[in-house]
Amino acid sequence: MPISYLRAAGTSLVLDARGTGVPVIVHWGADLGDLSAAMLTTLADASVPAIAPSSIDVPLRLTLLPTLAQGWSGRPGISGFRPGLGSPAIDLSLVGVRAGERPAGRAALPGTQTLTLLLADAAAQISVRTDLELSVQGVLRLRHTVTNTSTAAGDAAFELGSLDVILPIPGRAGELLDFTGLWTHERRPQRSILGHGVWSRESRHGRPGHDDSFLMVAGTPGFGFRSGEVWCTHLAWSGDKRAWAENSPLGFSVLGSGELLASGELGVAAGESYSTPWTVAAYSEAGLDGLSARLHPWIRSWSTIKTPRPVVMNTWEAVYFKHDLPTLARLADAGARAGVERFVLDDGWFTNRRDDRRALGDWFVDPVTWPHGLHPLIEHVHAVGLDFGLWVEPEMVSLDSEVARAHPEWVLGGVSESAAGEKAALTWRFQRVLDLGHPKAFAWVLARLTALLTEYPIAYLKWDHNRDLLAGSAHRQTAALYRLIDAVRAAHPGVEIESCASGGARIDLGILERVDRVWTSDTNDPLERQQIQRYTGVLMPPEYLGGHLGAATAHTTGRTSELSFRLATALFGSAGIEWDLTSASAEELGQIAEWITHYKRLRLLLHSGVVVRADPSDPALELHGVVSPDQNTALFAQVALTAPRSALPERMRFPGLAPERRYRVSPLLLGGAPRAIQDAPPAWNAAGGGSNAASPTVDEAAIGSVGGSVTLTGAVLALVGLTAPLLAPEQAALFAVDAVD
Ligand code: DGJ
Repeated sequence: MPISYLRAAGTSLVLDARGTGVPVIVHWGADLGDLSAAMLTTLADASVPAIAPSSIDVPLRLTLLPTLAQGWSGRPGISGFRPGLGSPAIDLSLVGVRAGERPAGRAALPGTQTLTLLLADAAAQISVRTDLELSVQGVLRLRHTVTNTSTAAGDAAFELGSLDVILPIPGRAGELLDFTGLWTHERRPQRSILGHGVWSRESRHGRPGHDDSFLMVAGTPGFGFRSGEVWCTHLAWSGDKRAWAENSPLGFSVLGSGELLASGELGVAAGESYSTPWTVAAYSEAGLDGLSARLHPWIRSWSTIKTPRPVVMNTWEAVYFKHDLPTLARLADAGARAGVERFVLDDGWFTNRRDDRRALGDWFVDPVTWPHGLHPLIEHVHAVGLDFGLWVEPEMVSLDSEVARAHPEWVLGGVSESAAGEKAALTWRFQRVLDLGHPKAFAWVLARLTALLTEYPIAYLKWDHNRDLLAGSAHRQTAALYRLIDAVRAAHPGVEIESCASGGARIDLGILERVDRVWTSDTNDPLERQQIQRYTGVLMPPEYLGGHLGAATAHTTGRTSELSFRLATALFGSAGIEWDLTSASAEELGQIAEWITHYKRLRLLLHSGVVVRADPSDPALELHGVVSPDQNTALFAQVALTAPRSALPERMRFPGLAPERRYRVSPLLLGGAPRAIQDAPPAWNAAGGGSNAASPTVDEAAIGSVGGSVTLTGAVLALVGLTAPLLAPEQAALFAVDAVD
């Protein structure tokens, strides 16, 4: 099968594996339709370039693993050296192609088309296996496995410098989108023009970091959520990594990604292998929403999370370290009355943990605060109808802890004996990292976690990670982390896990295969959250994205927001509460209970539907929503981030509905009406309705809709839209959309 043609869901890939050279991706992008073998050969032949002046004397091909030996002077696909022998000019040859092997790993399903390429370089004494998969949703996954094929006893390891997945993109994909961020401000989008050279994003945090590039997207200039051709990559890995786009003056553009290895970090011994993390890639001819439309169903196809996602009450911003049974029991009572389903006891429950300066690693219930263990609290939580979750930070250790005092050798980077002049390794949030690569440290923390899960009926672990590693062993630590989570889950298959890293510093598809929720950000400020959720949600389905209703004045920003804005924001994810509800007014408690009732009614839609985002021309305004897969029903939010630039803003256009069907659009009020600056609302949703308003049905009455509604076709709603209420800054209006035909 010298030329392979993979097609799925509007994406196709043509791979030219003729001859013994490293195969070439001739096309990755829009579906090319039915192509005969002869046509594929013609396509592959027609893709061989001319020979440029001042260049190698044969046509330059961009292969799947480009190297200097092929004439490629851009970033190589593989590099390394053998001590004493130097860096070989790696020159791989194709020795085999296999199609139709079983897809590999967890994130793979039947229906996936697979190709396996076998490459070897006898002189460098390495072989490479490349696994390439195209899922039924059109999601492409690739990874390489390098093996040191040297057999002579005592041969040095092959010291891997880099092994990356490099994918071609067309020259017209000249605009880039990737992400940066800070604590409580994750996933800030940044755009750039891809000129000649490399735009590279690197993480050396030992976790992706708050500034994680997250997705590297290249597209036709001006691409948006609903328009433009776009290609993206994401590395499914929770440690150090890099992602880049390169536009070579030679005439090629690529997206590349791989694990970022410290020098000498990864020696592949004779007969041993190293597999890269998977690069997950997608193409869309309909903007970023088109990427989500492939990535979300693919993730859902292998996701094992249980639905419906319960309403969580997390204690962190309610009580911080102030733990006592009466306070926490009252909090659970208030949550239960509002309809909460899960109570998560955050940081502060274990021996001597009174603040963030001590005790990490001493994973025993504090005997002073909890003389009878956590049993009384859990029994109370169960009695009021909630299940129980517990915060842990298994990869960390405080120097002021029993475990660090007993086992300083388990602390990554070591513990100085405080001899004069000796430089102590840096602490971060006053803590250090437990070296999970140390077998005894690993065994100990696994034993503590499983002991807690055995002693207590814990449904859920919030698994935190609050510092960068700042050590050159991110690969070993990340691999051990995955083993640790896998071992915990194997021992306690029922337990759910939320991944948290000071909020959203570890949100990637490597961790997602192992967890049920991610803590999207430490900020509960709805204004920040609108952006963070919007962009995290390009890759991650909303059911994974933890979002909490916080106090009116956000603890992380000091900004005060109205309840309706906080509720409308936390609704579009895995919803919860992180606020001392015992301080809320009776009116607020009633509105929160009503919100939870709606969340429970809407979560099937929100957690299985198609995420859509309009592209309003005014950056002050956003419109996003979720449409059910059968296009029967949808929920939208119009959001005013700041003051609009026109007194009468442009119409709200509702994407994603079936063009020919008729839909009723009705406002949904949660937490009161959003504040609007208008002398009168748009005619169509004035109380009593405009001329086209449908009378409220029993259902609508039940969900509390007020004001008018309007019935129009999906095409009209998408192409013309509706005049918008004039929302004041930091407000959101919700609209329920239901097919009436
Ligand atoms: C950081 C997390 O992101 C917070 O939600 C909270 O769990 C604290 N750690 C606890 O220390």
